Amino acid sequence: MKIKSICCIGAGYVGGPTMAVIAQKCPQVKVTVVDINEARINAWNDKDLSKLPVYEPGLDKVVEEARGRNLFFSTQVDQAIDEADMVFISVNTPTKTYGKGKGMAADLKYIELCARQIARVATTDKIVVEKSTLPVRTASAIKSILDNTNGKDVKFQILSNPEFLAEGTAVTDLLNPDRVLIGGDNDTTEGKEAIEALVSIYANWVPKEQILTTNVWSSELSKLTANAFLAQRVSSINSLSELCEKTEADVNEVAKAIGMDSRIGSKFLKASVGFGGSCFQKDILNLVYIAKTYGLTEVADYWEQVIIMNDHQKRRFAHNIISTLFNTVSGKKIAFLGWAFKKDTNDTRESAAIYVADELLSEQSQISVYDPKVETEQMYTDLDYLNTRSSEENRSGLSVTQDPYETCKDAHAIAILTEWDEFKTYDWQKIYDQMQKPAFLFDGRGLLDIPKLEEIGFVCYKIGSSN
Ligand code: NAD
Ligand code: UGA
Repeated sequence: MKIKSICCIGAGYVGGPTMAVIAQKCPQVKVTVVDINEARINAWNDKDLSKLPVYEPGLDKVVEEARGRNLFFSTQVDQAIDEADMVFISVNTPTKTYGKGKGMAADLKYIELCARQIARVATTDKIVVEKSTLPVRTASAIKSILDNTNGKDVKFQILSNPEFLAEGTAVTDLLNPDRVLIGGDNDTTEGKEAIEALVSIYANWVPKEQILTTNVWSSELSKLTANAFLAQRVSSINSLSELCEKTEADVNEVAKAIGMDSRIGSKFLKASVGFGGSCFQKDILNLVYIAKTYGLTEVADYWEQVIIMNDHQKRRFAHNIISTLFNTVSGKKIAFLGWAFKKDTNDTRESAAIYVADELLSEQSQISVYDPKVETEQMYTDLDYLNTRSSEENRSGLSVTQDPYETCKDAHAIAILTEWDEFKTYDWQKIYDQMQKPAFLFDGRGLLDIPKLEEIGFVCYKIGSSN
């Protein structure tokens, strides 16, 4: 079966970049990305490529090449679904905020709505691809909805094709993936044909040996597992960063020493103020919930500890600022460099900066933030979402500037919350001269040259090192 037309429901951080790359690499396939969020679709269609709703290095070039040729962004969801041979579901799957499983389970209402919409409008056979990250066995629910509500003798095949891209490197990850994973019904001819149809899309640029096919359940569970393992490494090294601070060991030296063991590997061992991002926490909570529903208490507790450690690391960073500043930050200006959850993205979801700010605002500090890519309103939305204090109080406690020197001026302390490269290039002598003394600096990312800053006069704290 040759795919001529693809529809992707959800034009977010995954749907947008993924489909842009598919369209770039498969000019013979028409790719339409649809969303109910009209503002987002308009931004994807903006002539000014700096206004794309997702900031990713290199994405503007890919969109520029394919948009209007075989890549389209639209709010006409029904039409795009019906036209397509293959429909990707790439909508958000946040943690449930209500009812059974509140705070843990994945909220699948958007997925179910998509399945019902596909069933309602489809008049021709479709391959439906789960691109969103989903609990293991979700495909059976999607299949049941599709098969029971269409009523037009349309045949559906369900595939799981989880996405492993990381934000900030989305385009290179999509162009050179470690592997592409496709789960499908490999017991039937139709299932095998569906798997092959998707394999042949990726085979336009991914070497065949890196395209892995499995059964649906393995594919669904592999995505949650991959994120759990990655987050676990960060929590593991972060747990040791605290021990390093007590023992005069240096966490970077420890990470290097263990990372050179090829069985351990050197990646994802950077101690930090805590991991953020829309997925690690959500996916581990989901894994914990699934384990609990099967009565697997030890399995659930084991993975939950990754989250407990991460919460501790964020809180610990804030408390260290407070205790170092002579046990009070009330009325003191604290400069935040960075708000995004990692560099090279404008995404702030679950960013450690939000939680550190929240702790400091509760101690009545005055926070000033500079981030090269995050919009001011986004920062207030992030804080308001926590519901710790009123929106007015958040606005009076936290201010945002477009100039890092302004942010740091008259500050009692600077906290590095995101590892943006530009922070390394600042005139740190000038920043020091304009600060209150002692001039404290808390590097939550192990980014800066601490000995050099200490030479200038800064009093520095670095995650995982006692000096
Ligand atoms: P997102 O919130 O950026 O985008 C989701 C989009 O889906 C939104 O624009 C929303 O308006 C749209 N949407 C929701 N319901 C819809 C409907 N019924 N019809 C049309 N549009 C609808 O989310 P995201 O970050 O792209 O994540 C999507 C999925 O991919 C999640 O399951 C996530 O876990 C997974 N994932 C994310 C990343 C990442 O780096 N962000 C990486 C891998 C996997
Ligand atoms: C992560 C995974 O890396 C992707 O494979 C996955 O597709 C994605 O989640 C997802 O499912 O959403 P992402 O969250 O975009 O990608 O970014 P990461 O590079 O994984 O960073 C996550 C967080 O961990 C960031 O806050 C980062 O600063 C932190 N981190 C990462 C560390 O603190 N130390 C490290 O060594 C690595």
